[in-house]
Amino acid sequence: MSRHLLCLEDLGRDGLRRVLELAEAAELEPLLEGRSVGLFFEHPSARTRNAFEAAVFQLGGHPVSIRAEEIGIDSRETAEDVARTLACFHSVIGGRVGAHSTLERMAAALDKPAVAVPIVNLLSDRQHPSQAVADLLTLRAHLGELRGTTLAYVGDHNNVSRSLVVAGAFVGMRVNLASPPGYAMGGAELAWARSLGGEVQLFAQPAEAVAGADAVYTDVWLSMGQSDELEARRRAFAGYGVDEALLSGAGDRAIVMHCLPAHRGEEISEELLEGPRSVVWEQATNRMHAARGILAYLMEQHEGRAR
Ligand code: CP
Ligand code: NVA
Repeated sequence: MSRHLLCLEDLGRDGLRRVLELAEAAELEPLLEGRSVGLFFEHPSARTRNAFEAAVFQLGGHPVSIRAEEIGIDSRETAEDVARTLACFHSVIGGRVGAHSTLERMAAALDKPAVAVPIVNLLSDRQHPSQAVADLLTLRAHLGELRGTTLAYVGDHNNVSRSLVVAGAFVGMRVNLASPPGYAMGGAELAWARSLGGEVQLFAQPAEAVAGADAVYTDVWLSMGQSDELEARRRAFAGYGVDEALLSGAGDRAIVMHCLPAHRGEEISEELLEGPRSVVWEQATNRMHAARGILAYLMEQHEGRAR
């Protein structure tokens, strides 16, 4: 198993189970006492930065948040040298990056005993694993046992939906995906998701994906780093907005989810986002519990290896 958390599948089923257990624990040992965690951001962040900073504090540690321009990844020095530098000071490194390959290069640079510090993905263009952990906490709080439940994701197949697909595979939750042509999961990825044990179905029409679902999830049509494509995407995603009419086809107890930030009137209606079925602020709160579970898990793993 990888010492890092770059993609949710790095945890494996048992690792994810342990992360959720740690995240839901009433009290944890101060596993970061006397230690610090370096968190760097190539893109803006409200929830992830605050969730991880708070979680580090709750585990007795000290967070150091760094904006990318302060360290100049691949401009002032290489991503590898940035990683090795942060490893001189911190027990865990968290990174939000444009290109997932930046995290992979950093992880490779740290796969030596002298600099064996774990890296956690705080969002990349491939996955957003800590979001998926928070989403599982939220789903469990509302739906109980997730095996046999169905989550419908409507919109852009992106970093968030990719991590959700893995989360679904690991907990036995079906994932229905509805995305317009050109923005959907491809055949090779579908095969990969199913090889993880995922019950994943692709739909052309949002209403088909949502029919009878226990949770309806959406995310922005334009992710960070894609700012030149907004008009083309607005045209492509017409009809893929999540609103009351779409939700009426979901299960009676269906909850409405969004990782935030949201664009009201685009991927989700104001009415639904602010309505009684919306759990988006619980998802936001659970980012902190998820972060605490992830950090505690990485420390447990790291200490276990060091023994
Ligand atoms: N959901 C999420 O990751 O929010 P931020 O981009 O504000 O961190
Ligand atoms: N898919 C979005 C998620 C933001 C939390 C993005 O990458 O911008």
